[in-house]
Amino acid sequence: MVQLHSTTINLSPTVRENVTALLNQRVGLFTDLFVQTKLAHWNVRGRHFIAYHELFDSIASHILNAQDMLAERAATLGGSAGMTVQDVGQKSTLPVWSMTVRQDTHVIRLLQERLGHVANEIRHDIDTTAQWGDADTTDLFTEVSRQLDKDLWFLEAHLDV
Ligand SMILES: [Fe+2]
Repeated sequence: MVQLHSTTINLSPTVRENVTALLNQRVGLFTDLFVQTKLAHWNVRGRHFIAYHELFDSIASHILNAQDMLAERAATLGGSAGMTVQDVGQKSTLPVWSMTVRQDTHVIRLLQERLGHVANEIRHDIDTTAQWGDADTTDLFTEVSRQLDKDLWFLEAHLDV
């Protein structure tokens, strides 16, 4: 169970524990998604290399920003923030990145699958935290969800040729 620090935030300890645990799961998921997006950024090859290379880096920066906001919300609620790389390896629900895939369309499909998975998980978290009565975390998940959906659009537009 999460060890909470004291705070004057008037959400119940149970809500703060549940929300902090969920946030930290997502911090771990975003850690994995960030590394996988960087692997796409570094390894992609093809006729439009520079466009893909730059797009993937832009998405990676959004992922890093989201990860930071989620971790800081966990700290705000009085919990420990984040997880170790070893825990990320054990707990991430993303498929392992294929280091042999480099062709641009294949790389985009791998990224689409992973970003889509995370986007849909976060959409579910919007409803979960609303039910728990933490409107601020719901708002944060909504902001993160909106950016993930937009990045998914940017990826999927490349597949529609
Ligand atoms: Fe780079």
